[in-house]
Amino acid sequence: MNSIIYPSDYAGYRFNPPLRIAIMASGKGSNFEAIAESIYKNELNACIKALIVNNPNCPAVEKAYSHNVPIITIDHRNYNTREEFDEEIIKHLKNLDIELIVMAGWMRVVTKRLIDAFNKRLINIHPSLLPSFKGLKAVQQALDNSVKISGCTVHYVSNEVDSGEIIGQAAVTVNENDNHDSLTAKIQTQEHILLPYSISLAGRNLRSK
Ligand code: GRF
Repeated sequence: MNSIIYPSDYAGYRFNPPLRIAIMASGKGSNFEAIAESIYKNELNACIKALIVNNPNCPAVEKAYSHNVPIITIDHRNYNTREEFDEEIIKHLKNLDIELIVMAGWMRVVTKRLIDAFNKRLINIHPSLLPSFKGLKAVQQALDNSVKISGCTVHYVSNEVDSGEIIGQAAVTVNENDNHDSLTAKIQTQEHILLPYSISLAGRNLRSK
C-alpha cells in the first residue's frame, strides 16, 4: 500500500499566472528537486522564485543551481534571536512577492512573526502521519512504536510545532524487516509525490479567495 487519495477529477490545477512560490530548506533538497521536476513536467503550475537556506553548504544549494533557481542564504548564526532571523526571511519573501512558502526540510523552529506574516501561506512537510510522531526523529519514533503504517503529511504551519491544518497525507506500510534507512526511503518516495500535489491544493485555496 502506497497511497495518496486524490480527488477523482484531479489533473493538476492551472494558475494564471503560475503560483509564485519560495522553498526553505536546510538539507539534502530531494523535495526541492521533486517540486522543480514537477514544474518542469508541467504537472505543478508554479514558479520557484527562490530557495532560502540557513546553511550555505547544504546539498540543496547545488540542486537549486542546477535548476537555475536563485539562492538566498540567511545564516541563522548571524542573528541574535529567532525573531530577527525570521524578520530577515520575511523581508526577502515580501520583496519577491511570494504567495506560498514551502518548508521542505527546514530545520529551524519558526516564530510567530513568520507564521503571522504568511498566515495560511506557509506549509511544511513532515515524515509521519500527523498527529502521530511530531518533532524530531519522526521515522525512529514510528519504528520504536512498532507501527504498521506510517507516511508523510503536508500541513499549514501554526504556532505549535507540526500541528497546523493538514493539507495532504500519503501512507506506506512498515514491514518487520524495515529499518530507519529503508523506512525513510519509502516515506521520501511518497513525499516527492505528495508535496507538489499539496502545493497545488494550497495554491487553489489561496487563489480562490
Ligand atoms: C523530509 O523527510 C521532510 O519530511 C523532513 O525533512 C526531510 C527533508 O528531506 N521535514 P530533503 O532535504 O528534501 O531531501
